[in-house]
Amino acid sequence: MMGRMNEHKKSLRIRDIFQLEPKNQEVPVQGWIRTRRESKQNIFFEINDGSTLKGIQVVVDKENYGDLSSLESANNGAAVEVQGTLVASPGKNQRSELLAKPEGIHVVGDSPQENYPLQKKRHSFEFLREIAHLRPRTNTLGAVSRVRNTMSFAIHRFFQERGFQYIHTPIITASDAEGAGEMFQVTTLPISDLAKSGKSPDYQQDFFGRPSFLTVSGQLEAEIYALSMKNVYTFGPTFRAENSNTSRHLAEFWMIEPEMAFCDIDCNMDVAEDFIKFILKTTLEEREEDMNFFNQWIEKGILDSLQRVSESTFHRITYTEAIKALEDSGAKFDYPVSWGMDLQSEHEKYLTEVVYKGPVMVTDYPKEIKAFYMKLNDDEKTVGALDVLVPRLGEIIGGSQREHRKDVLIRRIQEMDLDPEDYWWYIDLRTYGTVPHSGFGLGFERVIQYVTGMQNIRDVIPFPRTVNSAEF
Ligand code: 4AD
Ligand code: MG
Repeated sequence: MMGRMNEHKKSLRIRDIFQLEPKNQEVPVQGWIRTRRESKQNIFFEINDGSTLKGIQVVVDKENYGDLSSLESANNGAAVEVQGTLVASPGKNQRSELLAKPEGIHVVGDSPQENYPLQKKRHSFEFLREIAHLRPRTNTLGAVSRVRNTMSFAIHRFFQERGFQYIHTPIITASDAEGAGEMFQVTTLPISDLAKSGKSPDYQQDFFGRPSFLTVSGQLEAEIYALSMKNVYTFGPTFRAENSNTSRHLAEFWMIEPEMAFCDIDCNMDVAEDFIKFILKTTLEEREEDMNFFNQWIEKGILDSLQRVSESTFHRITYTEAIKALEDSGAKFDYPVSWGMDLQSEHEKYLTEVVYKGPVMVTDYPKEIKAFYMKLNDDEKTVGALDVLVPRLGEIIGGSQREHRKDVLIRRIQEMDLDPEDYWWYIDLRTYGTVPHSGFGLGFERVIQYVTGMQNIRDVIPFPRTVNSAEF
């Protein structure tokens, strides 16, 4: 056994095997059996190792294989090592296939068929979420996983090529970056004892000597670094205890947050637009097989639409113009439209799908519905907010130019019923070398949904955390 595992070094990934010219060369493969079929002369396996959507076909010549009883446990889901020779495939679906050498298939871990949950049929995504330990072995979740990987890398590449520093902002924090009170508390206080005693918690006895929480955003700390390194970004997990059970909300999601000093709202929009187009182009180029799969099975026409968007110019409108467009449309909405209301996802979809037929960047929202840190406009009614909306999803980016004037910032914090004391260092940053600066947050799972067409955000993250659900 140990000796055989050394094959790891020699074995090739299936993606790389498909690049080879088949000429009877010996090729070792390691992976999991997706399907097993049998004819009079042959047994056919499809083996997948996660490097491609389509696995490689392994053909066993029953007459010359030798001891066929060793293949009895070679069933769907089993882990196998295969020694074979690479030949051109007579089938039209693949260029090459492997002819197993005599006794060349070693079942490393079998998979009892009676209860293997992945049958050769379409399973619902709801069902697959219940078996998240096996779902990456399906075509869809495998493809999502590869696209997610490619997009992560593309995101780093975009910023690294433009001289942005990658900053690791804290996960545990004492400040509410959005001021929206949607934080998960982190504590080592004995909660059940406290509940029994009926006493209120003494936070001086808590781990950090004060109430602390999981971060909702790395923005405030990213601003600190932008005000010394000019252009920075974070890419990390963020947490929101919002009780919204929708197909676009998670309690734990990943966010990319660039922050740029000497950068106003127009500069912010330029970066956001370039950034999204770069991610789309890279994914279309580097994940062709998976993107064709999404185009065929998940969201028809998505390839054309993403291609078009990646070459288009995004519409830029103000909130006031957006409200006017919605009012003028005469369309009926569940939430009636009026200046001052927050845009609901039905409005965002209408703007992107019906009015503008593509991504829209909306700026200058009423100050009452946006966070305390956004720069107050001269009208004193609106702030330099920036939301990027896309078809099918609505908001995928939320950002703004930041309030860099100390006195205005303090006033805004007070107006929002927050305590300036809690934000003392954020305010202090405006005392020394303050400068107009801007940034935004892209919800990573939202943009993956946009690119793949996947309807539910729970299916584009390996292990979704939502209300009442933290299994795996
Ligand atoms: O609009 P949000 O709340 O903005 C911020 O957190 C800012 N601090 C970002 C910044 O300016 N640096 O969130 C940004 C994005 C949203 O547009 C959305 O894509 C995503 O994060 N998002 C969520 N994604 C999944 N589940 C949730 N519960 C989300 N909440 C926000
Ligand atoms: Mg937002």
